[in-house]
Amino acid sequence: MAENILEMREIVKQFPGVLANDHVTFKVEKGEVHTLLGENGAGKSTLMNILYGLYSPTSGEVWLHGKKVDIHSPKVAIENGIGMVHQHFMLIPALSVIENVVLGMSENKQVLDLEGASKALVELAEKYNMKIDPHEMVENLTVGEQQRIEILKALYRGADLLILDEPTAVLTPQEVEELFKIINKLTGEGHTVIFISHKLNEVMNISNRVTVLRGGKSCETVMKEDTDKHQLAKLMVGREIDLDRVLEEPKLGDVVLEMKDVECMGDKGVLALKGFNLTLRKGEILGIAGVDGNGQDEMLDVMTGLRKVTKGSIKICGADATNAKPRDILERGVAHIPADRHKRGMIKDMSIKENLMLINYYKPPFAKGKILDWKAIEEVSERMVKDFNVKTPTIETAGGSLSGGNQQKMVLARELDRDPEFLIAAHPVRGLDIGATEYVHERLVEERAKGAGILLVSTELEEVMTLSDRIAVIYEGEIMGVVDAEEATVSELGLMMAGSKRHEAVKGE
Ligand SMILES: Nc1ncnc2c1ncn2[C@@H]1O[C@H](COP(=O)(O)OP(=O)(O)OP(=O)(O)O)[C@@H](O)[C@H]1O
Ligand SMILES: [Mg+2]
Repeated sequence: MAENILEMREIVKQFPGVLANDHVTFKVEKGEVHTLLGENGAGKSTLMNILYGLYSPTSGEVWLHGKKVDIHSPKVAIENGIGMVHQHFMLIPALSVIENVVLGMSENKQVLDLEGASKALVELAEKYNMKIDPHEMVENLTVGEQQRIEILKALYRGADLLILDEPTAVLTPQEVEELFKIINKLTGEGHTVIFISHKLNEVMNISNRVTVLRGGKSCETVMKEDTDKHQLAKLMVGREIDLDRVLEEPKLGDVVLEMKDVECMGDKGVLALKGFNLTLRKGEILGIAGVDGNGQDEMLDVMTGLRKVTKGSIKICGADATNAKPRDILERGVAHIPADRHKRGMIKDMSIKENLMLINYYKPPFAKGKILDWKAIEEVSERMVKDFNVKTPTIETAGGSLSGGNQQKMVLARELDRDPEFLIAAHPVRGLDIGATEYVHERLVEERAKGAGILLVSTELEEVMTLSDRIAVIYEGEIMGVVDAEEATVSELGLMMAGSKRHEAVKGE
């Protein structure tokens, strides 16, 4: 057996009201990809934050290379060769790549040698087939690029044990492939990787071993060869999970969204949508498939009033909504699960109950005139938290202290509870565990049955194909074609996602 480079023994972490880690034991061997698997709130990020010196454990020991260590800060973790890429990236947008990389590094020199550092970073990147511009500002990078910089930053600082906390949650399938190549290269060179993901296909692809956490406890470690997706799901949730879904025939109603010849500019001053047409009716789920960055964000922006349309028109729930105000659009019975929950979905410092009321607080029964009825707010909040299984000690807890997946559940609870006529769901299950994913998918299908028109934006082809009635493929700001989901094939959609128009894609098969 290979050497255990890491042993976390009997780790306990008690937060106010939450026992996040309950005597967790976790052993990692040199050179392996070891996946930590578990439901939202199972304690994965907490355990890794302890290893990285961000939290101190209530009790328990950490052993590295056979020696007990006291990792009381990230600095000590880095000195011990531990690097971490967080679930929510921590780069500073207003600084350049190289500034982010050298920031906070302890150097004896008075003046930083940025040029020397840039050169070294580019060389390191090339070794892993990554192309980077060290002088680019981080705010101009895609999430995939930011993540590669986070990895490089850790390697640059000498990490040989790399923690990747849900690195694939925001990546496109192509980017995931690239990341896996990097991971394989790293472990081939003797680095060790701790990987966290809710996507079982990925886990079965990249891991050597998997440790399952359940309710803060370590429950089992299995070899990849000795397990499969079903067993992992069951270990994690404690019951069978069914991710396949058969939709009943849609009962189509009125048109809730009609976009005609829409044009808008992107942030970089080029056309982001052009000649964009889309129609959605009540009672159906229309999936938008496409590689991230092809106009999905701008499409969502214009239909929710957050970006100006320069040409064309948008009608929502029967009335003109071209360049309408966001609140006016929401008032028409539109609910929006935003792609970026931190920017648009929630306010981290506000309590859960306040976050749950963000949209409806000024209406009865929550407000009587200018007075808020906290009792009514609390009752409804308690119910939503229960319905959506948001793991939290109380509704007074700050939204930002929830685990990643539970933050997403909080946003979903608020939006779905509004009984929308038109529901915009952007990556609704991003970061959710499989049990929660199953629940959200059920809720979307329920909303459809109740007559809502649902626009589902997702980069996960599998999700789009199982949930949608029709699938529209977006490429460079245009719809390449709309296909009946029952007839759609992965290869046809894939071709359209790469820019073939519908008839060409079909012919090419
Ligand atoms: N800073 C904190 N203060 C209070 N409670 C916290 C804090 N960080 C985490 N928790 C709680 O500890 C529990 C475990 O959270 P953790 O983030 O480790 O879960 P996770 O397994 O990473 O989940 P996910 O898959 O959703 O990211 C959760 O119930 C969470 O609310
Ligand atoms: Mg987490």
